[in-house]
Amino acid sequence: MEFYNHYILPNLTHWVCSHKDITYQRKKVIPLARGRVLEIGIGSGLNLPFYDRKKIDFLWGLDPSKQLRKIAEKKAADVLFKVDFIGLSGEEIPLEKNSADTVVVTYTLCSIPDVLKALNEMNRVLKPGGELLFCEHGKAPDTHILQWQNRLNPIWKRLSGGCHLNRPVPGLLKKAGFKIQNLDMMYTSNLKLISFNYLGTAVAR
Ligand SMILES: C[S@@+](CC[C@H](N)C(=O)[O-])C[C@H]1O[C@@H](n2cnc3c(N)ncnc32)[C@H](O)[C@@H]1O
Repeated sequence: MEFYNHYILPNLTHWVCSHKDITYQRKKVIPLARGRVLEIGIGSGLNLPFYDRKKIDFLWGLDPSKQLRKIAEKKAADVLFKVDFIGLSGEEIPLEKNSADTVVVTYTLCSIPDVLKALNEMNRVLKPGGELLFCEHGKAPDTHILQWQNRLNPIWKRLSGGCHLNRPVPGLLKKAGFKIQNLDMMYTSNLKLISFNYLGTAVAR
């Protein structure tokens, strides 16, 4: 498992997250980011090309994975705003209260072990009036798909670096004190087990 997690999983994650259906979703949400931006779980930096550089003052890219961050660092060299990487987890964001105008999280809430703690941290560092931009996969609305998500979740988590198939994204956001402003929900591919998408914006309450 050590070899798989270290050498195979980061490249697999980068490859899967580069899929055109996922890229299509990124393009809907990332250009909305503005000001001082914190991206949680920046991974291999696949969102970087879609930020509107005219609106970005600065970006913090937080991710605990050294291997994925290495790929992201190369991509950050091509963007026209400053990117600072933070090699830590979303559960403990090392920033002051009210430091970010925008917090971005894409395809990451599924993988954070203590997701509520991380969402509370995002809420803490977001300025009043600041926005959380999210684009995540999670709990499917169809009972038979959800049953399969629940059944396969334990094995899926082991193979995918801790990704949960069935997280109830809007419920988690509300529990952490966010007020959802916009929410689009849809299957983004025929692979229904992993493709029910929640995309939108939220503000801290
Ligand atoms: C499927 S990848 C998505 C990467 C990127 N956000 C994207 O959209 O391509 C999940 C990411 O969550 C990160 N991750 C895992 N545990 C985390 C945690 N506790 N805090 C923050 N990020 C975490 C992983 O390292 C990985 O980069």
